[in-house]
Amino acid sequence: MTRKMLTLLTALVTIVSLLSACAAPTVTPPLPTFTPTSPAETRTPVSTPTASPLYLDPTAPIEARVEDLLARMTLAEKIGQMTQVEKNSITPEDVKTYFIGSLLSGGGGSPPRNTPESWADMIDGFQEYALQTRLGIPLIYGADAVHGHGNLKGATIFPHNIGLGATRDPDLVERIGRATAIEAAATGVYWNFAPVVAVPQDIRWGRTYEGYSQDTGLVSLLAAAYVRGLQNIGGVPALSDPSTVLATPKHFVGDGGTAWGSSTCIMMEHHCKLDQGVTDVDEATLRAVHLPPYIAAIEAGALSIMVSYSSWGGLKMHAQKYLLTDVLKGELGFQGFLVSDWQAIDQIPGDYYSDVVTSINAGLDMIMVPYDYKKFIRTLTAAVEAGDVPVERIDDAVRRILTVKFRLGLFEHPYANRSLISAIRSTEHLELAREAVRKSLVLLKNEGETLPLSKETALIYVAGVGADNIGMQCGGWTIEWQGKSGPITPGTTILDAIKATVSAETTVRYHRAGNFGEGGKADVGIVVVGELPYAEGVGDREDLSLSPQDAELVTRMREQSEKLVVILLSGRPMVVTEQLEQADAFVVAWWPGTEGQGIADVLFGAYPFTGKLPHAWPRAMEDVPLPRTGAAPLFPYGYGLD
Ligand code: GLC
Repeated sequence: MTRKMLTLLTALVTIVSLLSACAAPTVTPPLPTFTPTSPAETRTPVSTPTASPLYLDPTAPIEARVEDLLARMTLAEKIGQMTQVEKNSITPEDVKTYFIGSLLSGGGGSPPRNTPESWADMIDGFQEYALQTRLGIPLIYGADAVHGHGNLKGATIFPHNIGLGATRDPDLVERIGRATAIEAAATGVYWNFAPVVAVPQDIRWGRTYEGYSQDTGLVSLLAAAYVRGLQNIGGVPALSDPSTVLATPKHFVGDGGTAWGSSTCIMMEHHCKLDQGVTDVDEATLRAVHLPPYIAAIEAGALSIMVSYSSWGGLKMHAQKYLLTDVLKGELGFQGFLVSDWQAIDQIPGDYYSDVVTSINAGLDMIMVPYDYKKFIRTLTAAVEAGDVPVERIDDAVRRILTVKFRLGLFEHPYANRSLISAIRSTEHLELAREAVRKSLVLLKNEGETLPLSKETALIYVAGVGADNIGMQCGGWTIEWQGKSGPITPGTTILDAIKATVSAETTVRYHRAGNFGEGGKADVGIVVVGELPYAEGVGDREDLSLSPQDAELVTRMREQSEKLVVILLSGRPMVVTEQLEQADAFVVAWWPGTEGQGIADVLFGAYPFTGKLPHAWPRAMEDVPLPRTGAAPLFPYGYGLD
């Protein structure tokens, strides 16, 4: 049934119900007022002498509910639904006053007490006010649970996507999506700004690790799996279930294909080089390399997509009507809604009025403002009243947003699903994360059958700041936006894992700087090197060699160890050609997350190495970016010893 036919049907239903009402006393039914229910319970309207409006009837077809609600809305209520505000920038009262449709936690946006209960209280606290608006339209709350509910202390943190790319295991990725959805829904976050479906072509990009791979096919495969994981249960779409959340493939389109030096953004005093830059490829390449993951994600059920800061075809993506409306919504038939990135429309050339007009007319449906929501609402209202933004465009945007909110079941279960809090860091989730770590490891070298190590090894030296550092294991988007070194959240470090695995007779000595004094050579030295956490453009780096400190540490450990195992913790391939010469065995662990036991499982032979490189590995920096320079890689895409 076409949308036009559905609209006619709804009109017919309304006429019939009005005619029948004429037979009865013509009392206009007051809109139901809802007493805020206790969290996690479904909402039951306070009983009124007449039926609830159609849009509140969960048994009615969603299209009919949307049209019924839309027809009741004022312009202010419609524009409120298109407004997304960062949670520290608004009071619950203003959520009600301005009919705000969505709030978000930016990176690190946790409540003062970072516990599941405090998250649920915070979000439910806003929700109660949204439900008190005239039409009682629930908020949708979003966060970046990109490798588990990373902002939440005590969440299960999985390997970042680059590590999942190394697993090549869509079933695993789907199960991770499911576990992540449960831990997010427990806190009231029913919208996950994930997965990143970028196809990173230049590993100097600070968001390389958020992507699965340089290979379009692998990205498409895993992106679809993760979308299903967030939105399905037991392989069946279940978006209205209170334990599933909305997926958001991002950032549309071509964010991973920007050219070095094309970015002008400055982030935390760091001059970006690639992030938010210009995707300087022709349309054929854009369609061949960067678009397919969105097609796969839409087929998997994606109903929201976040637009990229980057530019293509001489325009900021947030101004790209051809790609956002003609291609994505038209050619690809995307039925969900488009959300902007954080304050991204402000980057469109021109004043704020033209930013708003340009982005909404280009096809943006919801704007992550995220601060000055009054200014955004005032500006868009003026643009509609001036005729610069057609009401039809507003209605299309709101129709898309409401359809998703009805599909999500938010009208029926608006509050955090606190019954799921016990699943956070549950044994099941920890075992899943440990499995993911095992499968993400890539073995680049193993001479003299160094690995697997014996649990009975007499003396093991462990060195490196990353060996005893949950924050460095997790990387960016963990507790803090940029991530943070140190014991930032519960988990198992590599050192903990080694100690938990070896025999009682084994001596394990740890020294961060690898100074073990006159203790003689260790049978095995394990040194952890790599990158400290970063996120987005802050991670754009021209030189991906190890730091001098790390290089010296490897040399020092070489002298103190009969056998030397190097473990790399990083968001991307690095130039480690010299260290590969020095090591007997070399393991790539990416950013594995909290469950470091998975590393020991494989180091000591409980499980085999199965990971394969999701990116070709460079010999030297002049060869980067490999997909463009065509230089011979040190290790090709797909390499990994068993
Ligand atoms: C950031 C990122 C985006 C994220 C959003 C909200 O700038 O570009 O991936 O979802 O803001 O945190």
